[in-house]
Amino acid sequence: MPTSKPVSASTCKMTEIVLPNDTNGLGNMMGGRLLHLMDKCAAISAQRHANRVCVTASVDNVEFQSAIEEGEVVVVESRINRAFDTSMEVELNVQAENPRTETQRTCNRAFYTFVALDDDGTPVEVPAITPETDAERQRYEAAAKRRDVRLVLAGRKNLQDATTLKDDMFSALQSSSSST
Ligand SMILES: CC(C)(COP(=O)(O)OP(=O)(O)OC[C@H]1O[C@@H](n2cnc3c(N)ncnc32)[C@H](O)[C@@H]1OP(=O)(O)O)[C@@H](O)C(=O)NCCC(=O)NCCS
Repeated sequence: MPTSKPVSASTCKMTEIVLPNDTNGLGNMMGGRLLHLMDKCAAISAQRHANRVCVTASVDNVEFQSAIEEGEVVVVESRINRAFDTSMEVELNVQAENPRTETQRTCNRAFYTFVALDDDGTPVEVPAITPETDAERQRYEAAAKRRDVRLVLAGRKNLQDATTLKDDMFSALQSSSSST
């Protein structure tokens, strides 16, 4: 197994048309249906990267910015922003396409954490991510901060140990206390 892989090795794009069975009483795609699609897309990216069975450990806040209507096409794209020891941050971007107007709009973005498991169901190390572009490097850096935030919120890390957040928070606290 390689010790490191590029982001491009595990991207995934899933395209589906929204049918009546996917919608609520307003004719819009139900949130749960979209989350299911996002989870599958993210799992494919995680498994492509880790070459292991991967499970969803957490889903950061998901915002539904724009309803997706029956008959529209939903396009979900996933990529690994960063791999840690046994976990990976997967970014999801969702677009809706209207086939009549040929327009595309962003509907939401979310960050999922997946963990790779061995054959006994124990978390197992995954290859690192090698960011290759400026955008990938920015996402790679930001992923470490988001990880600290989610582990602190999940009660899995002490705030004092959240090293990527310390400088940002201390400078924010200093500037807010000096302005009061
Ligand atoms: C996710 C799971 C494997 C973690 O198991 P665990 O015994 O807590 O394992 P560890 O403490 O060794 O953590 C493993 C990794 O998960 C990460 N993790 C665990 N809980 C997390 C959370 N809430 N948010 C983000 N990452 C988390 C840890 O940070 C660690 O990552 P690292 O190795 O890169 O540092 C386990 O809780 C599990 O199997 N959950 C159910 C998964 C599932 O069924 N998903 C589908 C739900 S519908």
